[in-house]
Amino acid sequence: MQALVVHAVELAATLLSPLGDRWKHTIGVAHRAEHLASAVPVADRDTLVAAAWLHDIGYAVPDTGFHPLDGATHLTRLAWPPRLCALVAHHSGARFTADVLGLTHLLAPYRHIDDPLSDALTYADQTTDPCGTLVPLSARLTEMLTRHGPTSANALAHPVRAPYLQAVADRVESRLSQG
Ligand SMILES: [Fe+2]
Repeated sequence: MQALVVHAVELAATLLSPLGDRWKHTIGVAHRAEHLASAVPVADRDTLVAAAWLHDIGYAVPDTGFHPLDGATHLTRLAWPPRLCALVAHHSGARFTADVLGLTHLLAPYRHIDDPLSDALTYADQTTDPCGTLVPLSARLTEMLTRHGPTSANALAHPVRAPYLQAVADRVESRLSQG
């Protein structure tokens, strides 16, 4: 295992293992990411797995209360690579939810790149349920809407976020079928 991934596992375990299901979800997303290796360039595979381990650490270091941003802020303070920080900041269409929350300006320092790497991280997260079990995207979205409620930021962002997540899933599954 590469040093980047080893350090990501260590930091994730330190911050998330006390959080019960959040840790189970993280382990599931990381293992999912490992199985998506063929959907990203070889040079990006360690970054994908490291980002999967770290994508939800914002729940353990709350600041604004928006976990993609809080996680990226924490990683930036610890001098993690900018691309990895940006992947955490933007995972799973965070920009759509940030818009609803009025936090777009705080995400702005993190550059979102629409590429196979960001797609694979989002796909790993959105096909892993809160307990770490593999699920279809549609089931994940239904569960998310039920859990957060109809007036939540996630629900308000859903009309624009869900088509993006479906497009990501279509792209990743196409790459896997070609890989
Ligand atoms: Fe997640």
